[in-house]
Amino acid sequence: MLDHALLEDLVAQVRLAPSVHNIQPTRWRRDGSDLLVLEDMARRLPMADPANHDVRLSHGAAIEGLALALAGRGLCIAEVVALDGQSETTRMRPVARLSIAVGASPDPLANAVAARASWRGAFRRTDADSRQALAHLAASNGDLLIVDAPEAVAAIAVLGDQAGLHFLREEAHRRELLHWMRLSPAHPDYLRDGLNAEALALGRLEAIGAGLVLGSRFPLLDRLGLAGPLTSERGKTGSGAIALFCRPAGEDALDTGRAFYRAWLAIAAAGLAACPLSVLADWPESRRALEETHALPAGRRLVNVFRLGLPARAQVAARARLPVGELIV
Ligand SMILES: Cc1cc2nc3c(=O)[nH]c(=O)nc-3n(C[C@H](O)[C@H](O)[C@H](O)COP(=O)(O)O)c2cc1C
Repeated sequence: MLDHALLEDLVAQVRLAPSVHNIQPTRWRRDGSDLLVLEDMARRLPMADPANHDVRLSHGAAIEGLALALAGRGLCIAEVVALDGQSETTRMRPVARLSIAVGASPDPLANAVAARASWRGAFRRTDADSRQALAHLAASNGDLLIVDAPEAVAAIAVLGDQAGLHFLREEAHRRELLHWMRLSPAHPDYLRDGLNAEALALGRLEAIGAGLVLGSRFPLLDRLGLAGPLTSERGKTGSGAIALFCRPAGEDALDTGRAFYRAWLAIAAAGLAACPLSVLADWPESRRALEETHALPAGRRLVNVFRLGLPARAQVAARARLPVGELIV
């Protein structure tokens, strides 16, 4: 059912799924009539993601990307069997075995796959259009709790800066982030993976500045009280709305990742642009503050936070991705 040519076509679509820091940790292999999902363990984030939660969530997003790609071809994932703990080689770790079956109807969210991309710029001032899009989104996805009252968004923007600074103050964390940033088009991986200047919505000078601020001068800048203002995203975050992404407590991150991708595609399908602000959910203080202020549905935990809205300018959709041939192993 799944020959190599079909798998290549599917993976070309699947690789558009989001992954944390764009590390693209998911690999694919045909195994009889099944498909193996593998993790490239060289692509991990020990500082930003010590529990490997966001990497696993990224695998989940890739699996959902596969389900969407299969649906367009009348196929579906019949079963997902998690394969944790079985290390195949020192580099590739099996994550799940998928059995593929015939039978699926096209999924409307598949239409948003090509258009969805992280938007890290500012948003248009909230107007009737964005309010309508947000209302449509709230009605179409039950995992997103929309916050659009200006004072509440402003408070979350301040909290986001505090959470961001908390992590940036750890040198190893900053070093890992810089390792995945491609601030110059001359970087050999600029179009392959990680976070390039265009994706970060940084102009040339801003990109040079980001490298200087996050490098060895950070502690001095912090002592001078400049690190906070220089890394602040408050203006951008405060310019849009917020969506709290909540999922059942105790859920396997593979399932969470599938829902995360669907939520982001629903955002794109509503005509909105978005970007996660993971630090808000990762830092216990900000997570607690958000959970106390905003009533999450019973039994749900805050997994991530999106800032979202109508982008202030046209979105660039040129996304850095690894070639299909490297993702099939
Ligand atoms: C679990 C997860 C967490 C993420 N957290 C952040 C984040 O905190 N900040 C951010 O700018 N992007 C975040 N992203 C977005 C990724 O960086 C983005 O998906 C990746 O760079 C690929 O780019 P694309 O979304 O434009 O396709 C996250 C993505 C995932 C899957």
